[in-house]
Amino acid sequence: MKILMVCLGNICRSPLAAGILRKKIKAKGLNTVIDSAGTSDYHVGEPADPRTVETAKKYGVDLNSHRARQFVAADFDKYDKIYAMDRSNFNRILDLASENHDTMKVEMIMNVVEPGSNRDVPDPYFGLRDGFENVFGMLDEACEIIAEEIANNKES
Ligand code: 4NP
Repeated sequence: MKILMVCLGNICRSPLAAGILRKKIKAKGLNTVIDSAGTSDYHVGEPADPRTVETAKKYGVDLNSHRARQFVAADFDKYDKIYAMDRSNFNRILDLASENHDTMKVEMIMNVVEPGSNRDVPDPYFGLRDGFENVFGMLDEACEIIAEEIANNKES
């Protein structure tokens, strides 16, 4: 099982989602591949935003080795499941899909908590510091469910 988390810049939401899920998966003794990417090229090669790194660290999630990269169409072949952080990124991912099989892999991440709600994980980049706490809480809830699903399916 290979999972890709996707946001816009790949420096705030998706690295955090990947880090949280990695920690939960490791705690369950599974070794699912978990990665992240951004639909834009704004921050390619950069580390995660310092506010993201700080918030993650507070909860025992280490994002120091993260470097941003852009989502590419080849990711559809590499990953089994692609979670978009918001509707805009969901649409940008689907723009690169070439077949129905690709489209089926993409889901709005908060729909794992509340199916069909299409709730966005708000972009914390231009907001206040507590935006990162809010994003952490939302992603922690979603990743808990994703980790349980993976464990129940006995997929590594
Ligand atoms: P992310 O946040 O998509 O959660 O990584 C953003 C990071 C950078 C920008 C926008 C959102 N930006 O416009 O540079």
